[in-house]
Amino acid sequence: MRRDDLDQVVAIERVAFTMPWSRGAFLYELEQNRVARCWVYRKDGEVVGYLCLWEVADEVHITNVAVRPDRRRQGIARHLLSAILSDGRKRRIRLVCLEVRPTNVEARGLYESFGFRVVGRRKGYYYDTGEDALVMEAELQLTPAPPERGPRRRSREPGRTRAS
Ligand SMILES: CC(C)(COP(=O)(O)OP(=O)(O)OC[C@H]1O[C@@H](n2cnc3c(N)ncnc32)[C@H](O)[C@@H]1OP(=O)(O)O)[C@@H](O)C(=O)NCCC(=O)NCCS
Repeated sequence: MRRDDLDQVVAIERVAFTMPWSRGAFLYELEQNRVARCWVYRKDGEVVGYLCLWEVADEVHITNVAVRPDRRRQGIARHLLSAILSDGRKRRIRLVCLEVRPTNVEARGLYESFGFRVVGRRKGYYYDTGEDALVMEAELQLTPAPPERGPRRRSREPGRTRAS
């Protein structure tokens, strides 16, 4: 993700979340937060998805992932997550964790398909609805890599990810 991706990233963020990150929040992750990394997925030159994380020692915390609504169910989030998990496996990352709303069946389905399991609950974590967050974790060195299904798109051309 680059600074000049942020118009497109923020536009996706605003439709994807009820409590969207601001442009300044993304900028902080890109330019100041030394433990943060963000990737985008481009299709036909446009940003259609992104994933952000924090990496501290041998742990990764996924902080944000979203796909533009007209590009969902095409394997884009699966591709982004698969890329960061296989990179983590190679670099001996031990644990990957994240928070998700219990009602977010799309995201839970995604994470479960990669072997994430619910290990806890943070009470009232989402202050817009007061909903709890489920804490999900995957132990990378114990979880075998799932078969790469690849994005389901008309074009077979692989998507590109870009490190921040
Ligand atoms: C969650 C999200 C990132 C998934 O992106 P996506 O590119 O559409 O997901 P993919 O096409 O890669 O699907 C991967 C898996 O996720 C699950 N999934 C995705 N959309 C789903 C849906 N509508 N219903 C049920 N499961 C779904 C499935 O397990 C799917 O695998 P399958 O298609 O082989 O069954 C997307 O729905 C999104 O941007 N949501 C809004 C933002 C958000 O909630 N982010 C997560 C915050 S924790």
